[in-house]
Amino acid sequence: MKGKILVTARSFRKTPGPHQQILQDAGYTIVNSPYDRPLKAAELAGLLADVDGAILGLDEVTAEALEQAGRLRVISRYGVGLDSVDVAAATARGIVVTITPGANSVAVAELTMALMLALARHIPQLDRQVKAGEWGRIRGVELAGLALGLIGLGRIGREVAKRAAAFNMRILFYDPFPPPEEVQAQLGTAPAALDNLLAESDVVSLHLPLTDDTRHLIDRGALAKMKPGAILINTARGGLVEEPALAEALQSGQLAGAACDVFTQEPPARDNPLLKLDGFIATPHVGSATRQTTLRMGLMASENALAVLRGERPAHVVNPEVYEQPDRA
Ligand code: DGY
Repeated sequence: MKGKILVTARSFRKTPGPHQQILQDAGYTIVNSPYDRPLKAAELAGLLADVDGAILGLDEVTAEALEQAGRLRVISRYGVGLDSVDVAAATARGIVVTITPGANSVAVAELTMALMLALARHIPQLDRQVKAGEWGRIRGVELAGLALGLIGLGRIGREVAKRAAAFNMRILFYDPFPPPEEVQAQLGTAPAALDNLLAESDVVSLHLPLTDDTRHLIDRGALAKMKPGAILINTARGGLVEEPALAEALQSGQLAGAACDVFTQEPPARDNPLLKLDGFIATPHVGSATRQTTLRMGLMASENALAVLRGERPAHVVNPEVYEQPDRA
């Protein structure tokens, strides 16, 4: 055996396929996490002490988690978000960090559309009513003609834009790093200042990473600037939204509905006020959880890890400075 690779990502572990096979064929033993949830830093630290590579879900990869990781050469994130990874601490230890961009874009975009439609047509409430023996109707709204404000027009935002265009929505976007104008034109999107997007959109959907700059981007002030009766969808990261303020905006009727696949704390505390609201839809961070994305993202994560372990440089390295370190073999 060449060495060991820790795998914490749940769907990677539970779905057999080529993503697991290529690790074994390359001579690595897969060490599965004993926990069925993202790991705390201290739990991860113990497991990282004895492995050469790690394919990780949403675990807490802090400096403390890396302290005993003497052999670890690669952290291959099964996903694109890096808010749970202290990339600087990994770089300081010469550990390459990789991600799987594009692998989950369609899955997250489709979930976004599903939540948008569910909110527009009150599907969860209607389902509950019919199952309770009631046959009342709740009038919905059509997406056609509504303005969709996409905050973030990266890979996932663009997939949402394509689908929303097919629903005849008018699409605005705000992105501090906008795509080239040809791409904006192909998608039929128009750039907007954040405040204008909030004021004009009937639906606001978040598709940006969580960083120090974006934390609580949708705070009380931003919610107050939204069009009265609009809806908010968050399939990106919980920390982008000030959750108590969102609950108040739903209670006051400022927003007609909201849906979150992601929460500041996952799972959310039972007393999170959002969970008690009828106009709020919650899903348990399942944006990437499709059969196709599990395999696509799994294969990409395994290929990234193996490339680093072979001494190659994979395409999706987030800390290329590691390769400039003088003592790197
Ligand atoms: C991501 O891509 O980071 C998703 O949240 C799945 O981990």
